[in-house]
Amino acid sequence: MKKLRVANIGLKFGMSHIEGALSYGAEIAAICDCNEDNLRFAGERYSIPSDKWHTDYMDIVNDDSIDIVTVAVPDQLHIKMSCDLLRSGKNVLCEKPLALTRQDISDIIKAADESSSKFMVGQICRFTPAFEEAKKIIDAGTIGEIYFAESEYAHDYMDLVDTWRSDPDRHGVIGGGCHAVDLLRWLVGDPEEVFAYGMHKLLPSVEYDDATIAVMKFGNNKAGKVFVSTGCKRDYTMRTVIYGTKGTIICDNTSPTMTLFETDENGRTKEAETIKVELNNHNAAKEFDVFADAILNNKPVITDAREGAKTVEVCLSIIESSKTGKIVRPNYNF
Ligand SMILES: NC(=O)c1ccc[n+]([C@@H]2O[C@H](COP(=O)([O-])OP(=O)(O)OC[C@H]3O[C@@H](n4cnc5c(N)ncnc54)[C@H](O)[C@@H]3O)[C@@H](O)[C@H]2O)c1
Repeated sequence: MKKLRVANIGLKFGMSHIEGALSYGAEIAAICDCNEDNLRFAGERYSIPSDKWHTDYMDIVNDDSIDIVTVAVPDQLHIKMSCDLLRSGKNVLCEKPLALTRQDISDIIKAADESSSKFMVGQICRFTPAFEEAKKIIDAGTIGEIYFAESEYAHDYMDLVDTWRSDPDRHGVIGGGCHAVDLLRWLVGDPEEVFAYGMHKLLPSVEYDDATIAVMKFGNNKAGKVFVSTGCKRDYTMRTVIYGTKGTIICDNTSPTMTLFETDENGRTKEAETIKVELNNHNAAKEFDVFADAILNNKPVITDAREGAKTVEVCLSIIESSKTGKIVRPNYNF
């Protein structure tokens, strides 16, 4: 089988994409970072010849020998780079969040629709072992019908306030909260209505709220809740609880175990079962495998541009509700 030629743009978190591509057996054909120290560090670490190091991503756009490009630059740059890469015929795996605005959403959907290449947004929580296991349990019907689910993204950004992460357009609900929103969409479905409150106590120099709580109504008598805190005083967590008519799942991306409650034949709750799961918060290897499989075997990409857009649309609706005090109905007509 042809060895896939991969280029990686943005080499901090983006180093995990290099690891994912290497574990698949792909060739790292080029790397790019506008920061020469980061470029050199990654180039030397992965023994990539220095003539394959670039500071301008247009060198990657213009290299027709490359099959896949991973994009892990600040969120504000995702759309322009991804659109340029798609137009040059590259398959693109872009970091979350897909976009920051509705204009960005329409630009990337147009570029993806007009391209014969594949596009994937890296909603990596869909490959986190605990969340994959939760999805399997739900799909098997073990916990019955879901009536409520909650997820959270609680991460302390205190040391990141002087970076692109504090740009007002890069609200914490989109930047980090998109993980929890995407997880609920994947496990429960698309919310029809959202209502949110924002709080601002932890990161005073950042313009956007540093904590937001959103409740949401799904179809078929189901509700959900997402909590996002970008200044919380605790370890990173995405604790997620799914309540069904026949059982309950409690899981997290930062815990090596998850808890499953099931009911007996009389509907009474049995003793909790503790399930061990691999602790792999950023499963870049599985993410790359899934994308490579979609490309080589012409399969649909599950987290394509429209799927990434739906998650961003819910995040934008949450932010709008927290500002206006009104219920917002996400508009999924892309
Ligand atoms: N999936 C996850 O859980 C997860 C975790 C962390 C970060 N991320 C995402 O990954 C992306 C990168 O995050 P990070 O933490 O590595 O940020 P970072 O700021 O630490 O690193 C960004 C890198 O991109 C480079 N860069 C910036 N502008 C560039 C340009 N125009 N051309 C080439 N290189 C450029 C920078 O020099 C830097 O090396 C973001 O979109 C972020 O949201 C995702």
